[in-house]
Amino acid sequence: MINPVRYPSQIPLFDALRGDRVILRPHTPDDFDELWDAIQVSRDELRPWLPFADQSPDELRDWLAKVSAKWITREMLGMGIVERASGRLIGDIGLMVHSWDIRSFEIGYWLATNAAGHGYMSEAVRLITDFAFDHLDAQRVMIRCDALNARSAAVPTRLGFTFEGRTRRDFASPDGHIRDTLVFSMIRDDPRWPNQPA
Ligand SMILES: CC(C)(COP(=O)(O)OP(=O)(O)OC[C@H]1O[C@@H](n2cnc3c(N)ncnc32)[C@H](O)[C@@H]1OP(=O)(O)O)[C@@H](O)C(=O)NCCC(=O)NCCS
Repeated sequence: MINPVRYPSQIPLFDALRGDRVILRPHTPDDFDELWDAIQVSRDELRPWLPFADQSPDELRDWLAKVSAKWITREMLGMGIVERASGRLIGDIGLMVHSWDIRSFEIGYWLATNAAGHGYMSEAVRLITDFAFDHLDAQRVMIRCDALNARSAAVPTRLGFTFEGRTRRDFASPDGHIRDTLVFSMIRDDPRWPNQPA
């Protein structure tokens, strides 16, 4: 049944979600320096897939201000990913709200290149997906990526999300090429984390 939400801003959230190796917590304007550095060292890896690799400092400041505002209005939950061992900000994960009434969400993410290859994003996706199902009453959590982005597609595949299909020629990559999108999802009734260590 549809479950209308009259005041999304009153939906309880969290200060931090703690996993074994990463912590997710809402962005603040104070993230600027660390986030800027993480983007600079990752520009070549971000550029093919995401539009902000070459943004200006003011664009990033503006994005941080907007992401904080959207946290308050619950339009989007944008979080920094912190490596527990070092306390370092190593990337970003966002839970985008497609519909509060239907409880349909989408996850987007990136990691600093020097933090990739350790399973940090897989852990971060599990944390926010668990929160969505257990505390936001999610019906659906979706992950989409460019069909050429094998590392991104590997994350939902590794975690047992269902591959729903390929939508053909439906978006433009940052360099203007028309591309296909891969769509993965987990719904409320799916077994969560099959074949994953607890
Ligand atoms: C997409 C992206 C976040 C994936 O990062 P990633 O580090 O490959 O993903 P994870 O953090 O889940 O790590 C998985 C890797 O760590 C390894 N790993 C090590 N320990 C692990 C653990 N405990 N659990 C899971 N994986 C582990 C895996 O084997 C895998 O390595 P492999 O790629 O050599 O097989 C990263 O490539 C990125 O930021 N790319 C640029 C931006 C982008 O494309 N964003 C997505 C747009 S849709």
